[in-house]
Amino acid sequence: MSSSDLPSSKLGTKEHWDHVYSAELSNFKEIGDEGEIWFGEDSVEKMIDWAVENIPSDTNPWIVEIGSGNGTLLFALQEAGYPPRRICGVDYSQDAVKLSRAIGESREEGASDITFGVCDFLTDYPAPLDGQSSSSDRVGLWDLVLDKGTFDAMALSERDENGNAPWEAYPPRIAQILRPGGYFLITSCNFTEDELRTKFSNAETGLEYQ
Ligand SMILES: C[S@@+](CC[C@H](N)C(=O)[O-])C[C@H]1O[C@@H](n2cnc3c(N)ncnc32)[C@H](O)[C@@H]1O
Repeated sequence: MSSSDLPSSKLGTKEHWDHVYSAELSNFKEIGDEGEIWFGEDSVEKMIDWAVENIPSDTNPWIVEIGSGNGTLLFALQEAGYPPRRICGVDYSQDAVKLSRAIGESREEGASDITFGVCDFLTDYPAPLDGQSSSSDRVGLWDLVLDKGTFDAMALSERDENGNAPWEAYPPRIAQILRPGGYFLITSCNFTEDELRTKFSNAETGLEYQ
């Protein structure tokens, strides 16, 4: 463990999230409960307000959330007027994806046009949506990449047998999927603003802090 590591916990394992979303999916089917809102409604509102101010919906942005869970943030974007066919959520837990799709189907028109897919972002990239431009190696390029609690979860995973922390690959991979001039917006409870700035805005990623 290096001095900058957080102590590993079950929240850094896929088994944990599979367990969480399997239960949330059953609850949704049984009683219509959409599940937990991480960091509460305020965090959703804050991220939507930022998006509305900086990347208005009439610019038709391509938006992806990494670790989209039950999809709450993306449904809120769609309700704020963002075109749902340009919105995508990916999560490595299959039941999270099933849950967000089921919630989309149960909501008013448009929500079911949001794309949700299974993707372990530390090894794969989200598939580009219809009409979206991609880089030469077919990685979709996004105007806005969102993270609400996902880097926090990744940072709680254990180092591998070679001593590498899985999350170290995350910041450069985020940079890889941003179109030039695109934004990465993150909400975190495990890192300070300064820590996030150091981890994401550096020579390796080429990202600038705003
Ligand atoms: C704290 S939850 C937040 C979920 C969602 N962003 C929200 O605000 O409700 C963290 C999410 O990250 C997902 N996650 C963790 N590591 C991931 C990875 N390597 N690739 C994709 N998703 C991941 C988990 O399955 C979980 O849905």
